[in-house]
Amino acid sequence: MSSAFISAIAARRSIYPLSKKAILSDAKLTTVIQEAVKHAPSSFNMMSSRVVILFGAEHDAYWNDIVPGELKKVVPDEETFAKGVERTKMFGAAAGTVLFFEDGKVIKGMQENVALYADRFPQWSEHGSGMAQIYAWTALELEGYGANLQHYGNLTGPAVTKKYGLPDTYSLKAELVFGHPEGSAKEKPFLPDAERVKTFGSS
Ligand SMILES: Cc1cc2nc3c(=O)[nH]c(=O)nc-3n(C[C@H](O)[C@H](O)[C@H](O)COP(=O)(O)O)c2cc1C
Repeated sequence: MSSAFISAIAARRSIYPLSKKAILSDAKLTTVIQEAVKHAPSSFNMMSSRVVILFGAEHDAYWNDIVPGELKKVVPDEETFAKGVERTKMFGAAAGTVLFFEDGKVIKGMQENVALYADRFPQWSEHGSGMAQIYAWTALELEGYGANLQHYGNLTGPAVTKKYGLPDTYSLKAELVFGHPEGSAKEKPFLPDAERVKTFGSS
C-alpha cells in the first residue's frame, strides 16, 4: 500500500536546472499547493503555515531584484556578491516560487492557550513548516516539476511582507523554487538503513 508513496518521496529530489516551460496552469498548480498545505499536519492542528506563490514577473522580481538587493546589503565583497547573484539568476530562470511563512500570531495564541508547552511552539511551528514544504515539494515532483529549496528569508522577509501587504507577524522560512526540469539530480549517498533505523522487540 505504501509503495506509491515511497516511490513519490524517493523521486523528489533537488533539481537546480529549471526553466519556465509550461506544465500546469497557475490555477491548477495553486490547487495542488493548497491541498498539500491543507493536509500537512501541525502541532495541536494549529495550522500556522502560510504560503504565497509567486508566478511570472513576481517570481522574476524576487530572484532578480529582491534577493540580490538584500544580499548586496550584507555581503562584504564584490566577488562573493557576484557568486551569489549567479545563483539567484539560476533560480530566476525557473517558473515560480512557493514562499513558506509561519504566522507568529498563531504561535503566540497557542503559547497563551496551552501555557504548558509555551516554549515548544516555536520549534513545532518550524516542524509544521517543514511538513508543508515536503508535501508541496513531492506534489510538484509528481506533477512533473523539478524543484529546489532555498533560504533567503532572513534577508528578504521584511521586503516581501511589505511588497505583498502581508501581516508583519509572517516570518519567511523557505522558498521552494519550481520549474520544468532541465537536468537531473546529483548522485546522493545514503547511510546504511540499520544506522538510521533500529528496532527492538517483535510483534
Ligand atoms: C531543511 C533543509 C534545508 C535545505 N536548505 C537548502 C538550501 O538553503 N539551499 C539548497 O540549495 N538546498 C537546500 N536543501 C536541499 C538539500 O541540500 C537536499 O535536500 C539534500 O542534499 C538531499 O538532496 P535531494 O533533495 O536531492 O534528496 C535543504 C534541505 C532541507 C531538508
